[in-house]
Amino acid sequence: PVIGRVFSGIQPTGVPHLGNYLGALENWVSLQNQYSSVLYSIVDLHSITQPQDPKLLRTNVLDMVASLLACGIDPQRAVLFQQSQVSEHAELSWILGCLTSMPRLRHLPQWKMKSKQKNEGSVGLYTYPVLQAADILLYNFTDQVQHLELAQDLARIFNHRFGDFFPEPGALLSSTRKIKSLREPSAKMSKSDPQTMATVFLTDSPDDIALKIRRSVTDFTSEVTFDPENRPGVSNLVSIHAAMATITVEEAVSQAMGLDTGAYKRLVTEAVVQRLTPIRLQIEQLRSDPAHLDHVLAQGASRAREVAAPVLKEVQQRVGF
Ligand code: ADP
Ligand code: NA
Repeated sequence: PVIGRVFSGIQPTGVPHLGNYLGALENWVSLQNQYSSVLYSIVDLHSITQPQDPKLLRTNVLDMVASLLACGIDPQRAVLFQQSQVSEHAELSWILGCLTSMPRLRHLPQWKMKSKQKNEGSVGLYTYPVLQAADILLYNFTDQVQHLELAQDLARIFNHRFGDFFPEPGALLSSTRKIKSLREPSAKMSKSDPQTMATVFLTDSPDDIALKIRRSVTDFTSEVTFDPENRPGVSNLVSIHAAMATITVEEAVSQAMGLDTGAYKRLVTEAVVQRLTPIRLQIEQLRSDPAHLDHVLAQGASRAREVAAPVLKEVQQRVGF
């Protein structure tokens, strides 16, 4: 494996959807075999920047751990932890926040967008990019590009003020695969899509999956082609089919030869069901044993702390604490 430390985070949104799986988690599983040290965090500190329900948060964390394990994250090869259990994240974030100017944050697109939606955002929502920078700087490499530039700036500012310490954080190439909503193929598939048939979750039953794919929006051409620009709906099905059957898009299209979209939807359903069934069964089994999930998280936290604590300690010393 390549020597290097890779960090990535996912919010505790409960059971992931097909977009999360194909756009992120599948890649997480392969990264754990490529790098000597990978750390995956369920970033619960990030998930309280907007009002949330405590019971639901707890359930969502456990569902996410169960899902990550079921997707193939192996706690022997990857450190899997809950962000709030490693207090170094919050502590480094405070210090970095004191090195960040208000205008620097005000101009980030996330703040502009989210605070507008919510009328008035919390201070946490305003400063969460700093927390995200802390997440990255504790471990150095990441597959997330969002706010990487801020992390790089803060590393430079810190080094300038307190002497060279943080290496420039870098990003790995991450998956560019984007899965679209089944109801509105111009939008990405998302857990927060209000349309119930738009999103396939990893725990959906075969019947649910069949229904969602059957109802998915395509167009009036019955032949299957891959043309995301002009035929986003059917092309999204081809992408899903190819990814789930681990074949190329061309192979998927050639398997669709002679099928109308109705028949092709049944083929796609089959590929999705075949791939998700073992994952769903595993999630259900893991969910029934929260003590085991808590144990995995506790072990992950202690391993993450082994990396994060010395970094924070050095930072504190340089700051003068
Ligand atoms: P985001 O704010 O990017 O939607 P989410 O919590 O929804 O974040 O997703 C977590 C991870 O899943 C991110 O890495 C994101 O890029 C990926 N992801 C989310 N939706 C999709 C999608 N429809 N297609 C591909 N990847 C996705
Ligand atoms: Na994200």
